[in-house]
Amino acid sequence: MTEAPARHYIDGHEISGGRLVNLIDRAEELKAGRPNEGSSALTGKSVALIFEKPSTRTRISFEVGVAELGGHPVILRGDELQLSRGESVEDTARVLSRFVSAIVIRSGSHQNVGTLAENATVPVVNALTPEFHPCQALADLLTLKQRFGTLNGLKLAYVGDGNNVARSLAVAGARTGVEVVVAAPHGYQLETEVPAILTDDPVEAVRGADAVYGDVWVSMGDEETAEQRRADLASYRIDGHLLSHAKHETIVMHCLPAHPGEEITAEVLYGDRSAVWDQAENRLHAQKALLEYLLGS
Ligand code: CP
Ligand code: NVA
Repeated sequence: MTEAPARHYIDGHEISGGRLVNLIDRAEELKAGRPNEGSSALTGKSVALIFEKPSTRTRISFEVGVAELGGHPVILRGDELQLSRGESVEDTARVLSRFVSAIVIRSGSHQNVGTLAENATVPVVNALTPEFHPCQALADLLTLKQRFGTLNGLKLAYVGDGNNVARSLAVAGARTGVEVVVAAPHGYQLETEVPAILTDDPVEAVRGADAVYGDVWVSMGDEETAEQRRADLASYRIDGHLLSHAKHETIVMHCLPAHPGEEITAEVLYGDRSAVWDQAENRLHAQKALLEYLLGS
């Protein structure tokens, strides 16, 4: 029986492991063919890109990606929609669906993204909520595949705050054969239902890991507890000492933006093991493959 295509990409559970692997293969093709061998999957189509929070990589990669697929990106800040003046999420979904072929949204409310998807008649893509960041994880799979030639059997150690990025890596990793270990202190760990190995010991986590992954200690929306977070996470910094417990060939990943000297040292971020700039670029290729897939081309 052929698998029904996913309608949305919101918490990462919508797309099976097999499909994810196909998407990564397609992203590699799109990357290799750029800029000359374009895809016209979005010709004549518009995509709404709604950003209720700041973004550099996600916003630019989606805008460039939609354009490179032949489509028209409609970029909207949350505060310029009537949504910010009380129009309901449901009505916003109904109206946007009359204009555009897909909606990409970064929101402070995961629930609102779900409501948007329930009421939209076009695909909805989560461009980051406090709970999930599936597009980041998709691009990270592409980076891992390109670095190691395969996904199945890899081990990724995430060190730091058990946040949206960690959760999405766990979901994407479990579907594609990547073992994800999350090292976080008490109070910052992911819920036990997440398909990852949970520990509070960063040294134990990085042993045997192919990739060591970090993210900020203060995510968007966590600013009020910033000082406490920096104190609680201080021993979860990715530095040369931690990496001395990893393999010689272990790569370092970070979704960016980074705070060199805080969750990762500058030496590591800008050093030979760092894959972070490829990760940033890969957002473009992975999201183009995702849009092609969701829009049925
Ligand atoms: N990694 C990431 O999502 O970056 P932006 O917040 O700049 O989009
Ligand atoms: N965890 C971070 C990721 C930023 C891309 C945040 O939510 O702010």
